[in-house]
Amino acid sequence: METTLVLIKPGGVARNLIGEITRRIELRGLEVVGLKLMQAPRSTVEEHYAEHVGKPFYQGVCDYLTSGPVVAMAVRGTNAVKAVRAMMGATNPIEAAPGTVRGDLALSIEDNLTHSSSDAEAAERELKLWFPEGLPR
Ligand code: CDP
Ligand code: MG
Repeated sequence: METTLVLIKPGGVARNLIGEITRRIELRGLEVVGLKLMQAPRSTVEEHYAEHVGKPFYQGVCDYLTSGPVVAMAVRGTNAVKAVRAMMGATNPIEAAPGTVRGDLALSIEDNLTHSSSDAEAAERELKLWFPEGLPR
């Protein structure tokens, strides 16, 4: 069993896609074990994207993630990390396969609707950051 972090970015919340994205996760057989709608503090977002510090899109993605409410979701199941990554699709929606969230619902890399943890270590770090209060075991 693995637990991974999904963020529905402000563009996804603004487009009323919380239900559509969550529906896909649940239909896959994954369990939502943590869920919150929040205005993310800048410090949380900057720490979340720490691996990208210094890259040309770092400030822009931090601006975007703090531009409105996000949904933070902890998702659990067998191979949850890889399963969710695959469901979200390639970072650039133009390269994301049809059938993925980004391939079906997004058009631009700056507004690619979701984040999901890239591997188990990232998931552990990110879940602690977004759910400091902890999650059910
Ligand atoms: O989200 P994912 O792990 O697929 O991609 P990433 O390479 O870790 O980049 C994090 C986020 O930065 C992306 O989801 C985009 O929102 C943003 N980004 C961007 O705006 N322009 C780029 N050239 C690369 C990433
Ligand atoms: Mg990433």
